[in-house]
Amino acid sequence: MSAVNEMNRDAMTIRLEGPLPPYPVFVEGIRRAPDRGWTLNRAETEQALRNALRYVPEEHHEELIPEFLEELRTRGRIYAYRFRPEGRIKGHPVDEYRGKCLAGKAFQVMIDNNLDFETALYPYELVTYGETGQVCQNWLQYRLIMKYLEELTEETTLVLSSGHPVGLFKSRPEAPRAILTNGLLVGLFDNPADWHRGMQLGVTNYGQMTAGGWMYIGPQGIVHGTFNSILNAARQRLNVGDKGNLAGVLFVSSGLGGMSGAQPKAVEIAGGVGIVAEVDYSRIETRHSQGWVSKVSDSREEVFRLAEEACNARTPLSIAYHGNIVDLLEYAADHDIAIPLLSDQTSCHDPYGGGYCPQGLTFEQRTEMLSKNPEKFRRKVDQSLKAHYEVIKRLVDGGTYFFDYGNSFMRAVYDAGVPEICRNGENTYDGFIWPSYVEDIMGPVLFDYGYGPFRWVCLSGKSEDLRKTDQAAMACIDPDRRSQDYDNWVWIRDAEKNALVVGTQARILYQDAEGRTKIALKFNDMVRRGEIGPVMLGRDHHDVSGTDSPYRETANIKDGSNICADMATLCFAGNAARGMSLCALHNGGGVGIGKSINGGFGLLLDGTERTDDIIKSAMMWDVLGGVARRAWACNSNSMEVSREMNKKYPGDYHISLPYGANDESVKNAVDAMFD
Ligand SMILES: NC(=O)c1ccc[n+]([C@@H]2O[C@H](COP(=O)([O-])OP(=O)(O)OC[C@H]3O[C@@H](n4cnc5c(N)ncnc54)[C@H](O)[C@@H]3O)[C@@H](O)[C@H]2O)c1
Repeated sequence: MSAVNEMNRDAMTIRLEGPLPPYPVFVEGIRRAPDRGWTLNRAETEQALRNALRYVPEEHHEELIPEFLEELRTRGRIYAYRFRPEGRIKGHPVDEYRGKCLAGKAFQVMIDNNLDFETALYPYELVTYGETGQVCQNWLQYRLIMKYLEELTEETTLVLSSGHPVGLFKSRPEAPRAILTNGLLVGLFDNPADWHRGMQLGVTNYGQMTAGGWMYIGPQGIVHGTFNSILNAARQRLNVGDKGNLAGVLFVSSGLGGMSGAQPKAVEIAGGVGIVAEVDYSRIETRHSQGWVSKVSDSREEVFRLAEEACNARTPLSIAYHGNIVDLLEYAADHDIAIPLLSDQTSCHDPYGGGYCPQGLTFEQRTEMLSKNPEKFRRKVDQSLKAHYEVIKRLVDGGTYFFDYGNSFMRAVYDAGVPEICRNGENTYDGFIWPSYVEDIMGPVLFDYGYGPFRWVCLSGKSEDLRKTDQAAMACIDPDRRSQDYDNWVWIRDAEKNALVVGTQARILYQDAEGRTKIALKFNDMVRRGEIGPVMLGRDHHDVSGTDSPYRETANIKDGSNICADMATLCFAGNAARGMSLCALHNGGGVGIGKSINGGFGLLLDGTERTDDIIKSAMMWDVLGGVARRAWACNSNSMEVSREMNKKYPGDYHISLPYGANDESVKNAVDAMFD
């Protein structure tokens, strides 16, 4: 061993050590990530090897070098499979973990839940959802993170950079216990190609949102948002009334993956009928066996017939169509089948990396072509996206309401060479010809008021704790305040009945700033009284303040500031300052590298008064920072909430509000200047 290596080893008490674990046996039937493509040159390949070996004692290097090189060559990155613990990983009750503080044990529950065979998309590759969203880069990091969490104390903070545990640093009990970032790149290099190089080198990670932020709660996390989106789409476009549901309405979309798999469940809960196309049969099987989709067929004639029957009977039904979404839509357009609500949830944030299966290829052919001929695959994706665009145009002309469901679909169509999808016919500055769900629905109806995807995990793993929290949360909501409150109240009332739990005992519930604060204080009190075990509170990054993403979360910000990433960054900093237990900031979540900055938090409810204090300041900030930004962009619902906050909490909250200009005066003056 070299002298430096010996000194470094002796200087670390938290490190990987011992004999090499045996190479794992891969369990049959567990989905595996496609080859991500090895493109490094000779020097870079050497660097990638050196980078991975940094985690391992020198005596094992000779044995690992060929193994790691083979992973890089055949999988496009080094996962260090050998270091994955054998068998199924799952989020166990918090008491079963080792640690020196509750937060350290609680984070281990959250991480393991993100890697569970039941919840994760490609568990062996540490991908939780969204095709490429990883908990961390490789199993060496996983092992080391878990060791660090066992040593974490109330006096230290664990710092992670794209999955790499930088170390434990002295802080104080009121500080966050973990601060992490994923995929942040310097502006000049903030693009998919440079990220791909960095990913192979083992220096950056795509954490999506809650994958790398350790706050994934299975597909339930997105069901509530999907339920809200389609319900409000129908209320806006199909005159189903303020409290009306989707009875007799057909919704068509694609994808039964990590997030998209929530669509059929959400449609049924909303009382409607849904057809969701999926090319990968294994994902259909997963959702079907979980009871998240009711019927399966590979016949287009059959799926539309079943849907028509259910619509006529006004009975909820969800159907998985095994095949390509473009084929499904072309059939509908050719046969004049009406589709009132239409969307798409293929992984278009990364269409060329395998997220979008082109028309004409089966899922298996797609995987092969992606690995053997990526250039041809790219051309096929572009052709398919063009056809996809054309058929949606035909359907929209016939009365369909299409909305982009936050997967960068319209951006992908533009990148495929269709500038007509842009409102100005040239570039994306003025947005696209069809609305994103945030522009029309989620932005004005939910985010601008502060409603967002608040969630919690009962760390005891007990279903009775979840039941008690459901009931307590429901008691905190006044269903008569706004229609949004009514929907949220109905949601939590029926949550248990709808069997939404996959993985840990967790719940999602859209709430605004005050609602989240009230519920959090209530839960902390229940922990204090011993009525329930400890709880991890959190939220999706896809929220009011958490994400700057011009094609998605901030699509309804129209003052030009939607190219800025200040809000998400400030939200992260503010949460850290107020002592949230875990603070995360990521690049690209949801829409792909360079297209968003997003952050999230975790707050451990341990029943202490200190946690009450954190809740009182941090929960309101986490929402109101975004409401303030939306108000400054002149979004009327946010201005309403901000005025209310300024009046209700003098001395505690004061939000700057804009003076609107007279449009005509502005227009006339500018016309005169340009004429
Ligand atoms: N709207 C939101 O709130 C939200 C939230 C999270 C993620 N997203 C985005 O939604 C997308 C989907 O997320 P996910 O986690 O479900 O990803 P995923 O990769 O797990 O699932 C996408 C599914 O689409 C299928 N698919 C791909 N091309 C197809 C085609 N042409 N026809 C039929 N099926 C096809 C894939 O086989 C896959 O199962 C991502 O881009 C993600 O970033 C949106």
